[in-house]
Amino acid sequence: MEQQEVFTMPRIGDMAPDFKAMTTQGMIQFSEYIKGSWTILFSHPADFTPVCTTEMSGFAILEDKFKALDTKLIGLSIDSIHSHIAWVHNVKEKMGILMKFPIIADIDMKVAKLYGMLQPGESETAAVRAVFFIDPAGKIRLIMYYPLNVGRNMDEIIRSLQALQAADKYKVALPLNWKPGEMAIVPPPKTVDEMEERIKSDYEMVDFYLAKKKI
Ligand code: BEZ
Repeated sequence: MEQQEVFTMPRIGDMAPDFKAMTTQGMIQFSEYIKGSWTILFSHPADFTPVCTTEMSGFAILEDKFKALDTKLIGLSIDSIHSHIAWVHNVKEKMGILMKFPIIADIDMKVAKLYGMLQPGESETAAVRAVFFIDPAGKIRLIMYYPLNVGRNMDEIIRSLQALQAADKYKVALPLNWKPGEMAIVPPPKTVDEMEERIKSDYEMVDFYLAKKKI
């Protein structure tokens, strides 16, 4: 039977694996790049392909919004630096959109393998559409994987980032379809005393375990 190569799959709660790689902004040591701010690391299957072009220009259009959310962007595909540069130039020329964020040229698939972006059942040669949300302490907080033929949703990427940041800032959890400005869930009580206190509180409550407050 053919032996399948086993790839690592980073998980939520793991520290983001470190690497050194060539990007469209020069050589980057990832642990240095991500230090002290939120980071979104995302892969695309290939340069000069239609869905990827819509997605990467989507990230570029929102780069200032990510910056305002204290978040750096960094892309990746298993293409050469020459291909990346030509694609960045082409998108600027044809669409007037400049991808200023670094794009990793992962020609030896080192980073794609490290981050579980290479999923052979989907493609042996191209990274799937992965999105890693990494917090300022370097911890992976949320992971999205999309197949080759379905583009991501920028609204959901921004919403997820804002939800992670709100959860940290206010020590709350965020309910289904939460958006900034909406109420957040107060973590459930852990003792009977806390439960009784909760019942007397002025939180908006379905019952003691499902209480919401304004943040
Ligand atoms: C695309 O971005 O359009 C694409 C890339 C790889 C496979 C299929 C579609």
